Amino acid sequence: MREATARASSRLCERRGRVATRVLTARSRGSKRVRRTLGPQTLPFTLVAEKPDHAAAIEGVLNRAFGPGRFAKTSERVRERGAVLEPSLSRIAVSEAGSIVGVCRIWRVELGGLPLFFLGPLAVDPSAQNAGLGADLVNAAVQACRSAGGEGILVVGAASFFAPMGFAPVPEGRVTLPGPVDPARVLWLELRPGALSGVHGSVNAPRRG
Ligand SMILES: CC(C)(COP(=O)(O)OP(=O)(O)OC[C@H]1O[C@@H](n2cnc3c(N)ncnc32)[C@H](O)[C@@H]1OP(=O)(O)O)[C@@H](O)C(=O)NCCC(=O)NCCS
Repeated sequence: MREATARASSRLCERRGRVATRVLTARSRGSKRVRRTLGPQTLPFTLVAEKPDHAAAIEGVLNRAFGPGRFAKTSERVRERGAVLEPSLSRIAVSEAGSIVGVCRIWRVELGGLPLFFLGPLAVDPSAQNAGLGADLVNAAVQACRSAGGEGILVVGAASFFAPMGFAPVPEGRVTLPGPVDPARVLWLELRPGALSGVHGSVNAPRRG
């Protein structure tokens, strides 16, 4: 469960607009979040939309976070099959020193004729994990998708991680992905009430034009 303070931090980030700053906090052994000092000072992070010149650093974060199994995932097959990256809705975490330490990408796909967003990969550099940054990145990307007037967001991931951000399991059989997947990890978030009721089918590339 995310803590109230962390939620407040995320909401504050959103209210500040497109460029949001957070301070790295870490979870103590219990449920309390405490400010973690890395060296002499705490490190603030800024959440920004993805830009072309982030590409190489994002690759580094993805490789460090996922390791060699990165390209074996079914989510990768979705992206290979014509999903369209939306850099303006994707969110990148940049440290005060200018290093990229996290990424949450958003893609346009289609499910049963309905345009949907597909979230992933989500990754935080191992040096910055367990401080709430992953949740902040997801919340910021969800907010961007909502502002863009989307219908819903699909993700393949752990329900325990994504549920606090509003994601719920997709009823079994409603979504067909291009590869093997544990049905319990297929989650979605409705951006408009009722938008996903009755929707079913394969995840495909979005219609052009
Ligand atoms: C998943 C990930 C992005 C989370 O980033 P983060 O900044 O550490 O996340 P937060 O600090 O917001 O949340 C940490 C919580 O997520 C949990 N968590 C981390 N990875 C998880 C996973 N794969 N499945 C379920 N829970 C996970 C942690 O145990 C921790 O739980 P707690 O809050 O109950 O202590 C990061 O661990 C990562 O990059 N992992 C490798 C890549 C990956 O698995 N991406 C997710 C693909 S959907």
